[in-house]
Amino acid sequence: MEQGEIALSDREFARVKARVYAQAGISLSDAKRTLVVSRLSKVVRQLRLDSFDAYIDYLERGGSEKDSQDFVNSLTTNLTRFYREDHHFDHLISYVGQLMERRPRVGPDGKPKLRIWSAGCSTGQEPYTIGMCLLQAHPDLKRWDFKILATDIDTNVLAKAATGVYPESELGDLSPERARVFERVAGGEIRIPMPVRSLISFKPLNLMLPTWPFKGPFDAIFCRNVAIYFDKPTQGELFSKLGKMLVPDGFLYIGHSENVGSGGEGFRLVGKTIYQTKLTQKTRDAA
Ligand SMILES: C[S@@+](CC[C@H](N)C(=O)[O-])C[C@H]1O[C@@H](n2cnc3c(N)ncnc32)[C@H](O)[C@@H]1O
Repeated sequence: MEQGEIALSDREFARVKARVYAQAGISLSDAKRTLVVSRLSKVVRQLRLDSFDAYIDYLERGGSEKDSQDFVNSLTTNLTRFYREDHHFDHLISYVGQLMERRPRVGPDGKPKLRIWSAGCSTGQEPYTIGMCLLQAHPDLKRWDFKILATDIDTNVLAKAATGVYPESELGDLSPERARVFERVAGGEIRIPMPVRSLISFKPLNLMLPTWPFKGPFDAIFCRNVAIYFDKPTQGELFSKLGKMLVPDGFLYIGHSENVGSGGEGFRLVGKTIYQTKLTQKTRDAA
């Protein structure tokens, strides 16, 4: 154990696991035990408590909403990067290109709509990549009513995402064509340009809520490397629910090691971890 860390008994670990599962759907494996100790010891000490039992008792008996949020924020895994699993973005560019050819002008201002949801957006690299690649490939989207909803349960990552500022090292090995879209700011940092930032609304959302506070529908949903932390039944339910938020023929993009499992009934697999809803305009009109 590192200095300042608090011992975690089997019983206490079981209580932490039960709570994060109930609160966020996250199934912690036994391999996550050291992670729990390292991430939560600080939180426990800040509350001037001396054990994990006392901490869980405190959360259960009167901890504030902020305490519950701190608990979940400490246990999420937020790994992400720009253009992660980039075949999804190639597919999205081509799909949106087709939509642009056939989508009629709607609304009083005559702007056609495009709606995309990044569910489990972490620190924002995924929704910003969606915005950057689409504006770069289809500059005419500037004349569209184009919005990206980006949600996550973890309020710390959302605050970071909303700044749109990252260390230059985040560019990794992006091609010069992709990298040139970022603005360079003082201190070796990069910033997402305003036309891209203005497309995105970052909002807290726990995907485990029985109902979500918006109806969609979305032309595409990215829910990648999020369900990997859930158990199989929870994954199936989530993917099936996401399918109902898509427009007819819309697409769901999931993580490289995920599959829609029992939630797959309404989808057909059309590419590597790319699912299209089986709902077509015809079947929707007939329903
Ligand atoms: C590994 S990141 C994936 C980020 C991005 N989608 C990607 O693929 O690069 C997983 C994200 O899922 C979020 N998450 C975990 N449980 C969640 C839940 N119940 N509701 C919403 N977001 C959740 C975490 O906070 C974390 O930011």
